Amino acid sequence: MYKTNLKIEIIPRSLKIRIKRNSTNFMIFEIDLSTLIYSDQLIQLTLLMNSSLIYGLGEQQANLLRNNKWNKITLFSSDQAPEEQKNLYGVQPFYMVMENDGYSHGIMFLNSNAMEFIIQPYPAITFRSIGGIIDFFLFTGPSPPDVIRQATHFIGRPFMVPYWSLGFHLSRFGYNTLDSMNQTLNRNLALDIPIDVHWSDIDAMEASKDFTYDKKRFRLLPDYIKYLRSLGMRYISIIDAAIMYSPSPSQSVLDDSGYLPFTQGVSSDIFIKNAYNKLFVGRVWPGLTVWPDFFNPSVLKYWGDQFERFETQDEIVLDGVWLDMNEPANFVDGSIVGCDSKNLLNYPPYPMSVNGRNLNYRTICMDSRHNISTHYNLHSLYGLQQSKITHEAIMQRLNVGKRPFIITRSNYLGLGQYAGHWSGDVWSTYQDMALTIPSMINYNLYGIPMTGSDICGFNGNTTSELCTRWHQLGAFYPFSRNHNTDDSYDQDPAAFLNSFPDLVSSTRTIFKIRYSMLPYLYTLFYLANSRGDTVIRALFFEFPIDVNTYSNDKQFLWGSCLMITPVLDRNTFAVKAYFPGGFGNWYDFYNGTNANNLRFGGTKFLEKNYMVLDAPLTKINLHVKAGCIMPLQEPALNTHLSLKNPYWLLIALNKLGEAEGVLYIDDGETLDHTVSPSSLGPYDMLHFKARNQTLRSWILKFDYLPVPNEESSLLISNVTLMGIPRKPKLVQFDSAENIIKRSSYRLDFTYNPLTQVLYIDKVTIVMKYAFVMHWIY
Ligand code: GLC
Repeated sequence: MYKTNLKIEIIPRSLKIRIKRNSTNFMIFEIDLSTLIYSDQLIQLTLLMNSSLIYGLGEQQANLLRNNKWNKITLFSSDQAPEEQKNLYGVQPFYMVMENDGYSHGIMFLNSNAMEFIIQPYPAITFRSIGGIIDFFLFTGPSPPDVIRQATHFIGRPFMVPYWSLGFHLSRFGYNTLDSMNQTLNRNLALDIPIDVHWSDIDAMEASKDFTYDKKRFRLLPDYIKYLRSLGMRYISIIDAAIMYSPSPSQSVLDDSGYLPFTQGVSSDIFIKNAYNKLFVGRVWPGLTVWPDFFNPSVLKYWGDQFERFETQDEIVLDGVWLDMNEPANFVDGSIVGCDSKNLLNYPPYPMSVNGRNLNYRTICMDSRHNISTHYNLHSLYGLQQSKITHEAIMQRLNVGKRPFIITRSNYLGLGQYAGHWSGDVWSTYQDMALTIPSMINYNLYGIPMTGSDICGFNGNTTSELCTRWHQLGAFYPFSRNHNTDDSYDQDPAAFLNSFPDLVSSTRTIFKIRYSMLPYLYTLFYLANSRGDTVIRALFFEFPIDVNTYSNDKQFLWGSCLMITPVLDRNTFAVKAYFPGGFGNWYDFYNGTNANNLRFGGTKFLEKNYMVLDAPLTKINLHVKAGCIMPLQEPALNTHLSLKNPYWLLIALNKLGEAEGVLYIDDGETLDHTVSPSSLGPYDMLHFKARNQTLRSWILKFDYLPVPNEESSLLISNVTLMGIPRKPKLVQFDSAENIIKRSSYRLDFTYNPLTQVLYIDKVTIVMKYAFVMHWIY
């Protein structure tokens, strides 16, 4: 429970209730109970508000700040490629409001039926659902990060990602043969593009059937997986929600010559039924299909058995699972014979329109039956429940003690505990690329920080320039994957080697930068998992009193320290950037210059903390916030290799000459305490602080070493200080215990007076021991 800082006013002689924030007297909302509708298949309530600054309500493709001009947002999970104003794969009935003075609150409607939110100019918001109950929660913040910490405390904190999942993922629909999959990987590795995970899609399956692989076209897939592992890489496969309907010729469930994921599902009676208690049969990729009922208590064993058989009999050992088509998507409306038209579930009295169509459009009939209720009530929870069961099945069956890694298309509140989300079938257009930023920010508000979009776009053909820019942006997606549809040209980086070599060099550079920043990113994920912090942040999250940040969704932050300003338009080589807190608050990541001193290189200052930055085709602008210490690491071709490299500290001093940061390190894959308290593995937590020309480390915890007993297995080899006004006379290192066994000695350094950066790049600091470093003028 959180201490309440609200006051509740009941307006005399009315049914009006007003909720106000005590400290500011700000009216959070007013509700007039006389306007409430509360019936079996229609619930409606309206909140009058005092602010139009509304964020959230997904999944939609839209700008970050929601339009309030009678904006009707329908939430009902749908296999709908992202398009503005359409409701998409996920359902996230949560929104955040900025009040005044930088205060904020969040509102969550925990309802699983098809629903609508209508944002009105009054300002007001109407919530309408065609079932369930009113279960509604207010998170009072007051800061935006507080709101999200409170909300994720309630719905579940994000799962701790495996370290390797923060590497680059390569995928496409339509490799069609293992040879082509292998060639694609090798041509990228040969160009020194870091890659951690290679994915296969339904074309690697036998006739698109889950838990199979094509034994002709992908004959050596088990060996390929071993080959990936030998390089320190991982393998992920798609698993679609629908299972091929394939009764064996004998019609006997004991006949196991058929397709076991079907026959075993029939024998354990875990498939969704129609209203007449017969198997519900629709049509997806493999042809006629049925769907597992993930709400059935027996489904966990069934689902785990499928993974286990895939692993033991077919030798397909997955490092992660990609759950698709789980809205659930269907290629026909309802069953193969449609849906019964004479009932109130398939055709409810309030005809809620889903992208202009009725509820049964391209999914299963609303009157079909799950173990615990009708599909009408559970539809939008299907992807969440499938993710939860997959998470449990993997923990039980496969990598005992290792973190499951799941990416799902459909999702609902609370998903973040089990899985991440990718934004589905985006088009290869600048517009879609730009809107992946608000999508990613929003999923962080919903407690699902492991999120990203198909780099270079999925549908349609990308262009070399778009794909160059998209790799630059995608290098800053938490979930960073290049994925493509089957009828588009290749878009892996190496595919452009002859036609557009700039793409290759730019992608290599930016992914090396990403890999060098993974210790920082991983620490952010630890903070998300342990206390509900966001990983990707909108600028307003960190600068909530700065109204100029409220609608900015062209730039974004990694944690509080790194600001990313991508180019989002064609034929554009300069970008207008906002510098919250003033130019002096930011340093150029590449050369360490304080943004206040950027008086060369074509940079143009504009009024009110705006600046036009040079953005040649091969560059994305990155800025480090003054006051931050970012832990980095020398990059490599994958995380298995980079984790063996020494660490670097990037220190951006603020005006007072101060900075701080933390670093979390563990083995990158052991289950963490939020998943299973008994399996909390050893970890290291370090705190770094710069102040009074002194950098100090504090060891908050240190019981993990990558190479046991080898103290020197975690080293810092490089310290870069930005914002050093003049050349120091000397830099001195002190540590009573450090391995060098000298209590104090001088360090070599170089100083660049133009950029005011001090480089101490010939050190060997053993992280296990606290150390002190001084720079003396
Ligand atoms: C869906 C997915 C896409 C996948 C395709 C084939 O469209 O969203 O990512 O490649 O199905 O499985």
